[in-house]
Amino acid sequence: HYFSVIMAGGVGKRFWPRSRKDSPKQLLDIIGDESMINLTIKRLLKVSPLERLYIITNYHQAEMILAQNPNLSWENFIIEPSGKNTAPAIALAAAILKKRDPEAVMGLFPADHLIQDEKDFIACLNEGVRIAAEKNVLITFGIEPTRPATGYGYIQVEKEPLPDSTLVYKSKTFAEKPNLETAKRFLSSGEFLWNSGMFIWRADVILKEIEKYLPELYEIIDTLTNSMDTEEYDKTLQKLWRTIKPVSIDYGVMENAKHVKVVRGKFGWSDVGSWDAVYSLEKKDKYGNVLRGDGYLLESSGNYIYSSEAQVFARNVHNLIVIADKGVILLIPRDESESIKGIVDALPVVG
Ligand code: GDD
Ligand code: MG
Repeated sequence: HYFSVIMAGGVGKRFWPRSRKDSPKQLLDIIGDESMINLTIKRLLKVSPLERLYIITNYHQAEMILAQNPNLSWENFIIEPSGKNTAPAIALAAAILKKRDPEAVMGLFPADHLIQDEKDFIACLNEGVRIAAEKNVLITFGIEPTRPATGYGYIQVEKEPLPDSTLVYKSKTFAEKPNLETAKRFLSSGEFLWNSGMFIWRADVILKEIEKYLPELYEIIDTLTNSMDTEEYDKTLQKLWRTIKPVSIDYGVMENAKHVKVVRGKFGWSDVGSWDAVYSLEKKDKYGNVLRGDGYLLESSGNYIYSSEAQVFARNVHNLIVIADKGVILLIPRDESESIKGIVDALPVVG
């Protein structure tokens, strides 16, 4: 069977002050009027029934997601004691799914990405599942790059698709988060796609790759698997999870793996990585302003303004991000909104 797994571990600090510990990015209506995770769940329910949809996250976030989604139950959750980045989360999910179905194919999806063309996305997903089910491969979704971004993984792909597919390509190399110079080289070569951070593979195939490239993690997951149907499971999970070293699937596996294939996606993907990204996705008035909340802008242009309570009045203000929420007002130039994460980490701000 095919299973969809949503990864929902992060807080999304770049969306502070809207994102807080008790209101992580995926639970916010950053784009439109539904939360990011609800949009993701709805999209995936079109390809997998509720009993084959999982969300991997910590206990606290699971409670908040459940409160927002009365149709979900605890059965839909895989609980990790703490965030250890994506490789351990994926390893745990793979072990649980393999136990449920030795032939399980799993699709992994970040909770907080935007996909504009759902039909096209589903076509890509079905094609990826078809190939992953029959082969010993790791499939990623590749996106046509538009700028030399340094926060993404890059996949070098062959020019022609596989003989038995029009959408899937063989990958030659995978480079996670290159420096700017390398990213520019990748972009101008025309041979690279961005890694969207969505993956498809058989649970047993990814576990084999983890055994090969992250043997310590594999060891721990293997021990956990043996205790899965016993009363000791929770205790063992708590104890062993603490000893796991955080590592992402991209650095840990994808950069080293040999059998990587790429579905070339043209479905309007964004990882909605900053307020500026939100600004570029939203509908603007004729002066290029986005105003979410009450207020009035005079002779102002290029601003993204969100206010949950106070009315906002501005004159002759340009290209700013203004976020007023839960007792905090943030003002920052739009083109610097990526740096909010650093501010939140460095200053004694309301977390
Ligand atoms: N359950 C769980 N536990 N989820 C996690 C954890 C964790 O410990 N850490 C991260 N996640 C979730 C995040 O919530 C997010 O949805 C997804 O996994 C990816 O993690 P990020 O931390 O956002 O990764 P990234 O943006 O640095 O890089 C990844 O995504 C890029 C595209 O957005 C990589 O896959 C890159 O190669 C890719 O280009
Ligand atoms: Mg991300």
